Amino acid sequence: MSGLGKPTVVGAAPQGASDPRSAGRAVREMFTSIAPRYDLLNHLLSFNVDRVWWRRTARTFRHILARPEARILDLCCGTGDMTFALRRQAGTNVAQILGADFSHAMLQRATAKAAASENGTRPGWIEADALNLPFPAGYFDLVTSAFGFRNLADYNAGLREIARVLRPGGECGILDFGEPKGATGSLYRIYFKQVLPRVGTLLSGVRGPYAYLPASVERFPEPGEMLARMRQAGFAEANWTPYTFGIAGLYRGKLA
Ligand SMILES: C[S@@+](CC[C@H](N)C(=O)[O-])C[C@H]1O[C@@H](n2cnc3c(N)ncnc32)[C@H](O)[C@@H]1O
Repeated sequence: MSGLGKPTVVGAAPQGASDPRSAGRAVREMFTSIAPRYDLLNHLLSFNVDRVWWRRTARTFRHILARPEARILDLCCGTGDMTFALRRQAGTNVAQILGADFSHAMLQRATAKAAASENGTRPGWIEADALNLPFPAGYFDLVTSAFGFRNLADYNAGLREIARVLRPGGECGILDFGEPKGATGSLYRIYFKQVLPRVGTLLSGVRGPYAYLPASVERFPEPGEMLARMRQAGFAEANWTPYTFGIAGLYRGKLA
């Protein structure tokens, strides 16, 4: 046990996965299966609050996004909404913003969305596994991940890989769901565990992913444990800011 109320976990464990390799495969297949309706369901099921969270995260890193030489990586970018929020915050300032994901279908949608947007400066996209990134050490100034990190098959390995590709003094921002406490938490749990899986399954036409979502959030380390793991991975500074009563929150880390 972690001593913080949840068993110590290695990483995500979708139903039927017996080890990190099969967990990674199952996660990729799951997101690929819902890619066509991912955006619609995301905005619907979050009542569009997800847009506010992506913007807020991008604003947090405006000091990096204002630097013309900065290199930014958005991990587990999916259909690219966090990546686009970073791009918008950066304006035309930043040299390189890349979105990376291991689901080809999710990246195809990100590319199509970028092509449809009027913004002249588009992010780049790369198909890659967050646990084995094709970048040299110390390459990026900022690594973000929105609602993706929780799905990694090995959280400690994910944090080590983020730390590896960041330059000294580089920062990371991991935006993910949390478990709000108190009366708000009780109400939210009814929605998140009872309503959302049913509506998600009905509208996506795919059984599984929308039951996995609340289970993965329940399994994810509490903020105290996650921050301890970040420090262990080399982040000298690590803190967590709850968003919207703690329904989501931003883990922020900075290397020495
Ligand atoms: C819930 S979606 C989040 C997408 C986007 N960041 C957003 O905020 O909407 C999670 C994404 O993480 C990706 N993902 C999960 N594990 C990954 C890994 N090991 N490497 C790369 N991408 C991964 C999935 O393919 C999926 O597109």
